[in-house]
Amino acid sequence: MDKLLIEGGVPLAGEVSISGAKNAALPLLCAALLTEKPLHLSNVPHLNDVSTMLRLLVQMGVDVTLDEKNGLVLNAGGLNKPEAPYDMVKTMRASILTLGPLLARTGQARVSLPGGCAIGARPVDIHIRGLQAMGAEIRVEHGYVLAKAKRLRGAKIFTDLVTVTGTENLMMAAALADGVTVIENAAREPEVMDLANCLNAMGAKVSGAGTDTISIEGVERLSGAQHRIMADRIETGTFLVAAAVTGGRVRLNGTTGAILDAVVEKLREAGARIECFDDAIELSAEAPLNAVSLRTAPYPAFPTDMQAQFMALNCVAHGSAMMTETIFENRFMHAQELRRLGADIEISGNTAMVKGVPRLDGATVMATDLRASACLVVAGLVARGETLIDRIYHLDRGYEHIEEKLSQLGARIRRVH
Ligand code: UD1
Repeated sequence: MDKLLIEGGVPLAGEVSISGAKNAALPLLCAALLTEKPLHLSNVPHLNDVSTMLRLLVQMGVDVTLDEKNGLVLNAGGLNKPEAPYDMVKTMRASILTLGPLLARTGQARVSLPGGCAIGARPVDIHIRGLQAMGAEIRVEHGYVLAKAKRLRGAKIFTDLVTVTGTENLMMAAALADGVTVIENAAREPEVMDLANCLNAMGAKVSGAGTDTISIEGVERLSGAQHRIMADRIETGTFLVAAAVTGGRVRLNGTTGAILDAVVEKLREAGARIECFDDAIELSAEAPLNAVSLRTAPYPAFPTDMQAQFMALNCVAHGSAMMTETIFENRFMHAQELRRLGADIEISGNTAMVKGVPRLDGATVMATDLRASACLVVAGLVARGETLIDRIYHLDRGYEHIEEKLSQLGARIRRVH
């Protein structure tokens, strides 16, 4: 199993390009199921989660080819198996995003329940209730969601909780339903907007994406389209934090501050200088930074996917910070690994009290989930001596060539087999 070896203490410097967003790419790949015409996607990130989703679509009968510019062309004209088997779904929860499109396009779907995951229970009840409100007959049997509907019909749906993939699933299903669907308490994440833009380019009638009320007027059929996947705001934020904790100076290209205001604000509060352009962000900082308290919540508030990286920042900052996680119930697993590096963290329920220490010392640590892995990379970059991170397959699910990009910024980091 691959590991990452980092020798900390080098301030990051230079320029790097940010990849397309994992959390936008996954629903966009599923959108291809809604039409028999080709969907061209560009800026597709090379990630294990993307490969898993492509394998899932291919076994359903979707034809996938690379275009001349390294984009993907998906053609679901030959879709013949509306099924997502457990073996593929178990490694990637986002596979549930095939449920809505399969049902809307073929009238049936058999999709494995994603099961629990390390950061919390993460049920899919809101996805199911929303589709039922649109007239689907749904049973859960032997670990599978079995759904049927001759044709979905528009409905007014209020979601109890703000759910990102739930909103996306229902939006895709509603695009081919009879009549108008209104999703209230919808997720406002930029990835939801990216999906809505692509659906509209395919001929859908989606309005209100980016607000908490989304209206979708169903159409008879959707056509193909060309769409460029938005920049990954979590990769952007992770590189900004890495540069800031090491007291570095970097320019991130192909991304924009407009998609991560809450993160940029917190970094400024910590003492980093940040300048945002239309297609780039520059950061410079002197370590140590000031500790920053935060509370995760749905967009536009501070993202749960950046909580772990900020914990690494707070570990070596001046002062103390209180960090509250409100989205997932078990998302502090990185704390005990950070303690192995010498961090001072107290956890009580969904709150972590982090007291900055003068320095972290390198050690062997274990990645427990995707963003926890990113947190350990950030900590390793600032720790004294060598940090060896085990189980980095989590990292490969969501960060494209992370060690190459960090090396480009001067970090001493390499993959060991
Ligand atoms: C998405 C992101 C993930 C991010 C998360 C929160 C993708 C592919 N993944 O995950 O990176 O961490 O948003 O920003 O976009 N819930 C229910 N019932 C449901 C659905 C959700 O109770 O049917 C709960 C979840 O357990 C969680 C909360 O709602 O506590 C939010 O989860 P949700 O927004 O659905 O997360 P994902 O869409 O899975």
